[in-house]
Amino acid sequence: DLDLLTQPSEGNVLNSDFLLKLAAEYDTPLYVYDGDMAVERYRDLYRFIPYDRLKVCCAMKANYNPGLLTLLRDAGAGLDTVSPGEVHMALALGFPKERIIYTANNMTDEEFEEVLATGVLMNIGSLSRLEKIAEKHPGMRLCLRFNPDVCDGDNVKTMTGGDLTKFGILLEAVEEVKQIVRRGNLKVVGLHEHTGSGLQRCESVYRSMENLMAIAVPENFPDLEFLDFGGGFKVPYKPDEARIDYVAMGAEIARLFEAFTRRYGRRLNMLFEPGKYIFAEAGVLLTEVNTIKHNRTRVIAGCDSGFPQLIRPVLYDAYHQVRNLSNPDGKPQIYDVCGNICETGDRFAEQRELPEIREYDILAIGNAGAYCYSMGGVYNLRAMPTEVVVSGGKVTYVRERLTSEQLCGRILGEGRFL
Ligand code: LLP
Repeated sequence: DLDLLTQPSEGNVLNSDFLLKLAAEYDTPLYVYDGDMAVERYRDLYRFIPYDRLKVCCAMKANYNPGLLTLLRDAGAGLDTVSPGEVHMALALGFPKERIIYTANNMTDEEFEEVLATGVLMNIGSLSRLEKIAEKHPGMRLCLRFNPDVCDGDNVKTMTGGDLTKFGILLEAVEEVKQIVRRGNLKVVGLHEHTGSGLQRCESVYRSMENLMAIAVPENFPDLEFLDFGGGFKVPYKPDEARIDYVAMGAEIARLFEAFTRRYGRRLNMLFEPGKYIFAEAGVLLTEVNTIKHNRTRVIAGCDSGFPQLIRPVLYDAYHQVRNLSNPDGKPQIYDVCGNICETGDRFAEQRELPEIREYDILAIGNAGAYCYSMGGVYNLRAMPTEVVVSGGKVTYVRERLTSEQLCGRILGEGRFL
């Protein structure tokens, strides 16, 4: 009697009734993604930024779910990839190589050769790698990643610009870059920067753009086809958090870039690589509470997932909303919402006021579409949750959780005693 084919009420698949049906059908822990929302978020960028040569490459590291990525592929999206694994997955999912950019970080020679063979454009972020390319691959087409010298992000661990980070080539090294490029007869078709994830200030976007555009002059780089300003667009995680005025931001981005293209003398492509903006709000993790425990000072709601399956609260002290889908009108109480992992830090929410939670209630952890499943692991030998993608009101993709036996079987099958 489960009517999963019916368009959910409220027009949003992340509404409570529909999620409860999915939890009953697929069991918990369960990741649910609203594929249509992710596609709309991708299209938002084109609505916000009025520039005709805009290209959006979704940051695959935020969510590599094949069901979601296929929807984005069909909508025309490109992908920002960061490892040979991501490059292979992108190609296997049918993304044309022209729509993929590979932003390497501390790559080995083997990884370089592996990606080179695929024909995907590489974004190079160190002088030493550039030197090696000039020597061994003269004439190569590539993109160069610079450190924009702007520091912003929702967390010190996710800021990628400024002095304390490992990313990119320093802006002041541009003369050295030019010498290497000339020596290797390299074709620099793109310049790239990424300031951080969850940028708190619009000005950071503008300043990073200006810093990159300042070196993107034809005298330095005559072969440019695009500038890539990375990702970082923030979305609200807390209920009272304001949403950035992206219409205003997009207009300013387009204005700055139009001025740049006039100075450069040609209309270049403008790339962005958002991850959180596209995926974060399009996903929830559903988990069932199996144990309510009253300690001296705390009420614990213990559930059937844990931090290896959604690590952001533990790793970044990130706030994720928790909804009690089964008892939304219960009397509010203060809870620690804890997982099933043998560590004290295994909490999705600490001292959070929530409607009364009972054993067997289903909780939905919000904003679980970006950097949640993709950062997951099998610590304590608990398999990652099932994932489902919903589009057009129906489930279009399922990736099932391994049973304990399957998980152990895989690990045993991967090893050899010598
Ligand atoms: N481009 C590059 C080169 C990046 O390194 C990143 C993210 C992005 C684009 C996408 O950034 P976004 O639009 O998603 O903010 N695990 C952290 C976020 C790490 C982001 C790393 N790089 C978190 O969960 O907050």
